[in-house]
Amino acid sequence: MISGRSGRIRTCDPCVPNAVLYRAEPRSDKKAAYSLGFRAPQEADFEDLTPVKVDLKTQILPADEAAIGLAARCLREGGLVAFPTETVYGLGADAAQAAAVAGVYEAKGRPSFNPLIAHVADIAAARQIARFDATATRLAEAFWPGPLTLVLPQTADCPVAELATAGLDTVAIRVPAHPIAQAILRAFGGAVVAPSANLSGHVSPTTALHVAADLSGRVDLIIDGGPVNVGVESTIVACFETAMLLRPGGLPREAIERVLGHALQRLPEDAVTDNAQPIAPGMLASHYAPRTPVRLNATHVEPDEALLAFGSAGLDGAHAAKAAMNLSTRGDLAEAATHLFGYLRILDAKGARAIAVMAVPHHGLGEAINDRLRRAAMGR
Ligand code: TXA
Ligand code: MG
Repeated sequence: MISGRSGRIRTCDPCVPNAVLYRAEPRSDKKAAYSLGFRAPQEADFEDLTPVKVDLKTQILPADEAAIGLAARCLREGGLVAFPTETVYGLGADAAQAAAVAGVYEAKGRPSFNPLIAHVADIAAARQIARFDATATRLAEAFWPGPLTLVLPQTADCPVAELATAGLDTVAIRVPAHPIAQAILRAFGGAVVAPSANLSGHVSPTTALHVAADLSGRVDLIIDGGPVNVGVESTIVACFETAMLLRPGGLPREAIERVLGHALQRLPEDAVTDNAQPIAPGMLASHYAPRTPVRLNATHVEPDEALLAFGSAGLDGAHAAKAAMNLSTRGDLAEAATHLFGYLRILDAKGARAIAVMAVPHHGLGEAINDRLRRAAMGR
């Protein structure tokens, strides 16, 4: 049985085997419910956005057929379901139900000016939501299902709730490749908005336990499909007159440019700041941040620092590091991406003065890794 977000009890199957029940202790929140009105980006502080509803019973279920059926039913009933995609775990809600979408913002403590990605099972479903020009069609056919999100003009009868698109006339859309994400989308039958299943500003989750650490008591259901296999969020490309890279991610820029036959346009400098309707509203400077300060391009380790290494080179002071993890000893960027967020979480818990991070090459998935590291280094 799943307790509803508004206190009502829903009637999802009470007898799913292997269910682990979590109940978060209700917290004495000083703040009123997080306002869904516009807030300036600098106010989007993790500490301040603790939502009021933290007493849901959160079920964590292994991703079997029963759990997928339950997930679809829970989504239909307006619930919040975290599930694996190939990039990171997402926190899903029915894109067409405004109240469910509001629940996503509330559970994450996410500023409502930051729109969500609508996930669908295939290109045909995507065409009901967004208008595809020739470039968008070419990219979708080349890379879907997969770690690519397209930002496109909405169709006239786009079913995605306005809250999910933050009032923009565009919509971000993605067809995930992960078999469990696919199974849930097909069982549900509609579009599912799903931001990464972490508290706003925190690092994205790559395992179900990461999701539980952030969102237990705030969501109805977590589907555990094991560790994800890409490890950084999808690459976001806007297709208007030209294709523009809004966020580097799990699909390397080079692969996209090969299909396009030319370079992706760059984000204008002012696209992120001081703008009520930014092109890339989610690219706030401070994002993906652990609590421990992050020091980039480390060539030595200082006393009391933890080390996030890359490759096989040794580093002065490494033997005395408070803790050390290596993203990929063999210097493999895909392996490094799968470890990035999990290792940041582990090192963040070591009580180090800072996390010293070795340089990571900037090609392929390195562009997304460096983007997330740069944001992590900006702190909260
Ligand atoms: O890999 C992923 O993309 C994961 C999985 C769960 O699919 N999702 C994810 O969602 O990373 P989220 O909400 O953490 O990041 C979505 C990004 C945000 O930066 C948001 O601002 C941007 O997409 N976005 C959404 N709609 C947009 C729009 N219409 N125009 C520009 N950016 C948009
Ligand atoms: Mg996110």
